[in-house]
Amino acid sequence: MITPGTPFAPFHDVLIDPVQLKARIAELGAEITKDYAGGNPLLIGVLKGSVFFMADLARAIDLPLEMDFMAVSSYGNATESSGVVRMLKDLDAPIAGRDVIIVEDIIDSGRTLAYLIELLQQRGPASIEICALLTKPERAEVDINCRYVGFEIPNRFVVGYGLDYAERYRNLEYICCMDEANLPPIEPARTRAQVAEGHPA
Ligand code: IMP
Ligand code: MG
Repeated sequence: MITPGTPFAPFHDVLIDPVQLKARIAELGAEITKDYAGGNPLLIGVLKGSVFFMADLARAIDLPLEMDFMAVSSYGNATESSGVVRMLKDLDAPIAGRDVIIVEDIIDSGRTLAYLIELLQQRGPASIEICALLTKPERAEVDINCRYVGFEIPNRFVVGYGLDYAERYRNLEYICCMDEANLPPIEPARTRAQVAEGHPA
């Protein structure tokens, strides 16, 4: 297990630990299992932030579900929403007539989801619900009707459990806050050969 404050991610401000994540995701899974009993929901994970949540949530739902993924960009490498949403990867299969559950890592301004809901709505699903691991209610700009929420969090920039800063820190098992006034520099990726040569970090 990667412990909080590990050298590559020296953050100690843990907001949600692995035990809390597991417990809440079990509850969300049970709720979805009950709400969709007898059916076959289609979970749509929004890449890349939702990957760990999607994997754990799907295994907490006791139903014959299906999974698909899409990718949109809304942030670049900054910590503020650009307001521009671009489709990077579409779904593999049609969703007409399906009960869709969009699985998101975090709702910040809500712009990304507003765009996605509108786009998917046009494809004629039987229903669309949202399941977001995190929401930042203070930041909401667009009103999103999110049926399943893992945790409401304060207006802090968080990483871990899928959430990134400049594509890093997704692989932390916990969610922690970063100090936005003191963001670490992100060095270019180093190869093993460079490390062996003693290339500076
Ligand atoms: P929205 O369109 O403003 O709701 O932004 C949603 C997207 O922004 C999320 O799917 C994340 O990729 C990213 N995001 C928002 N807040 C955070 C954060 O605190 N940490 C990491 N990513 C975030
Ligand atoms: Mg995201």
